[in-house]
Amino acid sequence: MTPVERARTAFAEVFGGAPQGCWWAPGRVNLIGEHTDYQGGFVLPLALPQGAAVAARARSDRVLRVHSLHAGGTAEIDLDDVAPGTPEGWLGYLAGVGWALTQAGHRVPGLDVVLDSDVPIGAGLSSSAAIECAVAVAWDDLAGLGLDRDALAAAARRAENDVVGAPTGVMDQMASLHGQEGSLMFLDTRSMDIEQVPLELAEHGLALLVIDTRAPHALVDGEYAERHASCARGAQLLGVSELRDVPVEGLTDRLATLEDDLLRRRVRHVVTENDRVMRLVGVLRSGADPRSAGTLMTASHVSMRDDFEITVPQVDAAVDAVLAAGAHGARMTGGGFGGCVLALVEAGSAGAVFNAVAGAYEEAGFDPPTSFI
Ligand code: GLA
Repeated sequence: MTPVERARTAFAEVFGGAPQGCWWAPGRVNLIGEHTDYQGGFVLPLALPQGAAVAARARSDRVLRVHSLHAGGTAEIDLDDVAPGTPEGWLGYLAGVGWALTQAGHRVPGLDVVLDSDVPIGAGLSSSAAIECAVAVAWDDLAGLGLDRDALAAAARRAENDVVGAPTGVMDQMASLHGQEGSLMFLDTRSMDIEQVPLELAEHGLALLVIDTRAPHALVDGEYAERHASCARGAQLLGVSELRDVPVEGLTDRLATLEDDLLRRRVRHVVTENDRVMRLVGVLRSGADPRSAGTLMTASHVSMRDDFEITVPQVDAAVDAVLAAGAHGARMTGGGFGGCVLALVEAGSAGAVFNAVAGAYEEAGFDPPTSFI
């Protein structure tokens, strides 16, 4: 059964009667453009087939009662009691959206919800954004708000930033709400302009292999916030409002004006990453062989590893192993400190490439990885 079917079926058992509807939103992988979205930069994610589903029915009060098949268990809160940091745990992803919509001046009812998802948790595939976006579209429909997808993405991001307390950008929520099958979403996070860029992998005999390294996410929250703060400091010292405004041309000279080597490397990652996104989009727009995008993916990984320092040994080992096994390019995807590696491979070689990673992990004593195409 799909998450939608499971959520719909469970609703009657948990709440009695039928839900008013089921809503679904996908997780994402990011092809390139990491840690650029909170500095006004460029990202190039694609929506996944895996997603979060909510079966929901409006209530006459403001209570949000959620039964999660995903996490197991039921939790509830009055929407008027939601505040930064409250509630803790997974309920915050849903309650935070109700809070954000209320803050934006919309009147939203309480809901009875059954939640399910098949996005792996803690793998850097935006399992939380999928939940936020699914409940955002549910509320939009049930309350007849008529909001567009950018507004729903903004509410979902506020839930994450203000209620859950993670200072993320808007890439994940925009990818979840605007992703289209067969396309990458090229997003300018300053103007919020979107271009759907076709990704013709099958036509070229290629596949994207997603390897879940299953590396434990240690210190994620603090480290992400630290990178966020470093970038803001770098922008301030360079006299720009966001690092998006620092051109890659003449970067070395500009960086020389920064005294702190760590800050220089943080800034260099973001500025060169924006440039790599633009170049990769250029490759795909030109209709060139997508294999030539692989070197940009790998360069992005090296930049995350050496300059931004957000990779972990399992992630670096997976990238090394897939490249040695013939992948055209590979990189960690998502916020970092674990999670998934994305590899551009010949469709016929995906199994062998994955086996190379599994072998390397066994040798290194890491937990076995998993993968999907
Ligand atoms: C997380 C955040 C995004 C983005 C990525 C890194 O997924 O939610 O906003 O910053 O990390 O690119």
